[in-house]
Amino acid sequence: MKIINVALPKGRLGEKVYDMFEKGGYPCPSIKEPNRKLIFENNEVGVRYFWVKPSDVAIYVERGAADIGVAGKDILLEYNPDVYELLDLKLGKCRMAVAAKKDFRDDRTKTLRVATKFTNIASSYYASKCRDIDIIHLNGSIEIAPILGLSDVIVDIVETGKTLLENDLQPFETILPISARLIANKSSYKFKTEEIENVRKGLSRQVESND
Ligand code: PRP
Repeated sequence: MKIINVALPKGRLGEKVYDMFEKGGYPCPSIKEPNRKLIFENNEVGVRYFWVKPSDVAIYVERGAADIGVAGKDILLEYNPDVYELLDLKLGKCRMAVAAKKDFRDDRTKTLRVATKFTNIASSYYASKCRDIDIIHLNGSIEIAPILGLSDVIVDIVETGKTLLENDLQPFETILPISARLIANKSSYKFKTEEIENVRKGLSRQVESND
């Protein structure tokens, strides 16, 4: 039996994703043991899991260190990795949005200063609206930028909206909805088609039953 190597996003989303794999026929009981190991395997069902940083999943899969993985649509759009997107798991649902201080009014005579981690998504969004922008790339705590006057708006992920609310910001426009996707390395898909398709089917049944 060919072993499938799976990169799982470490954290809250990853636990939900693992549960889907487990119910879909790919359990690995050792993953639930309280330790700090990052690699787990179950030879009986032919699976090996790795916990990786959510934003790194696509790198492992694109380079073939993992055959498949689960990554947010935000990461796939931002970095455009050369992988197959096989299934929308409909988990980790949130949206990419433009937010700003409540009194913000867009003055189109001026270049708009946009702070974000997602510079490609933000640039193509404003390019599609023919809006001149100055991109300010930040790595986190993006919500602070408009408060301190570093930017006019932010482009960031909004899930519950609580972070914006608690920092006196308001969402202005939704750029796109986001959810977790099953992705596959292109050559792994060629050589392990049946195994990967079986995983996809197992997960697809979970998605349908969760709907
Ligand atoms: C994201 C995002 C917001 C927050 C939104 O950060 O950057 O800060 O979640 O969630 P809410 O609408 O439910 O408040 P994340 O927790 O992914 O951490 P990060 O800053 O490390 O990306």
